[in-house]
Amino acid sequence: MQKVIVTGGTGYIGSHTVVEFQNEGFEVVVVDNLSNSNIEVLDGIERITGKKPVFYKVDVANSAELEKVFAEHSDSIAVIHFAAYKAVGDSVKNPLKYYHNNVEGLINVLSKMIKYAIPNLVFSSSCTVYGQPEVLPVTEQSPVVKPESPYGNTKKINEEIIVDTLASTDFLKAISLRYFNPIGAHPSSEIGELPIGVPDNLLPYITQTAIGLRDELSVFGNDYNTPDGTAIRDYIYVCDLAKAHVVAVKRLLKSKEQYEIFNIGTGKGSSVLEIIQAFERSTGVKLNYKIVARRPGDVEKVWADTSKANKVLGWKAESSLDQTVKSAWEWERKVRER
Ligand code: NAD
Ligand code: WQD
Repeated sequence: MQKVIVTGGTGYIGSHTVVEFQNEGFEVVVVDNLSNSNIEVLDGIERITGKKPVFYKVDVANSAELEKVFAEHSDSIAVIHFAAYKAVGDSVKNPLKYYHNNVEGLINVLSKMIKYAIPNLVFSSSCTVYGQPEVLPVTEQSPVVKPESPYGNTKKINEEIIVDTLASTDFLKAISLRYFNPIGAHPSSEIGELPIGVPDNLLPYITQTAIGLRDELSVFGNDYNTPDGTAIRDYIYVCDLAKAHVVAVKRLLKSKEQYEIFNIGTGKGSSVLEIIQAFERSTGVKLNYKIVARRPGDVEKVWADTSKANKVLGWKAESSLDQTVKSAWEWERKVRER
């Protein structure tokens, strides 16, 4: 059985990805320090797949801790590196915390991959590296700009570290997946997104408002240059996104390319008001919301050209927006029942 190491594997995207790897017959070793997730996620994964992955409570930014994992699993064929802090606003207030965790974490992972000759890396990057693109949809060739936040900058720096490191070895290969906006939860509602405190992201804010945890959703700006005035993003179903990691590993195993980048989105932009409508339509629940000022740092519109992933990886987003949004609601209801 082929084995993969998944850092950040109890997190939101990581947990859905572990499920997809296990469903495809891979053995999975999860590494997470539980700084933004909890151990019960492993039970959810077991209920879905019938198997609990091997788990290490380890900080990837701590080289000595990470050593043990790689020493014990040097027969792994790939590392999927999710572990990172991701709160944009917090990164503006605490930049060094983000540079330390996200940059040091990747350096340690790459160092161990070299030491133990594990040849393949899939890295979690972000559409944030494109900033506000001049031409839409964005392709992988679109210019990478200096991101708005220290968080975004860690993604740009990490991509650069990967390129430089690959150039110095003859066996390492990597794929960076630039995710657009991941949303939704596994159809079983056994795993999903569990933000700590007040959510920054749109979907958890919507579902928490609908369930009564928040009074109303603030829509940040309706004076953008978009058809309804609200900002546009490319919202991608987390299970579709998770599957992209499995095909990325399969690609690494068979292709000669040392490094490739893929946009992972749906190829379609949706405005904030369209997301609210999709939520109300698919769940039958009316949402309390008001229009407020723009949120500083937000881009106006961004969506992906996914033709490279469609063609080269044979991957395509499958879920409809309504199904995806509804899955987030079903997860929210299940979480609050507990
Ligand atoms: P998440 O916070 O749910 O998951 C990250 C996991 O990594 C958490 O379980 C956390 O405990 C763990 N972690 C953090 N630092 C660690 C460390 N030093 N050692 C070990 N574990 C550590 O976030 P997510 O939404 O699942 O994001 C996963 C990855 O995808 C991140 O790299 C993130 O930057 C990237 N990404 C996320 C989005 C998004 O909107 N969710 C978009 C683009 C890229
Ligand atoms: C989506 C839209 C908001 C909340 C962030 C990171 C980015 C990436 C994905 C990791 C925007 C609007 C939101 C609310 C609202 N993460 N909104 N009211 O900002 O596109 O991207 O997550 O790499 O780096 O910046 O996602 O979900 O926060 O916002 O009106 O209460 O919803 O203004 O237009 P964003 P989001």
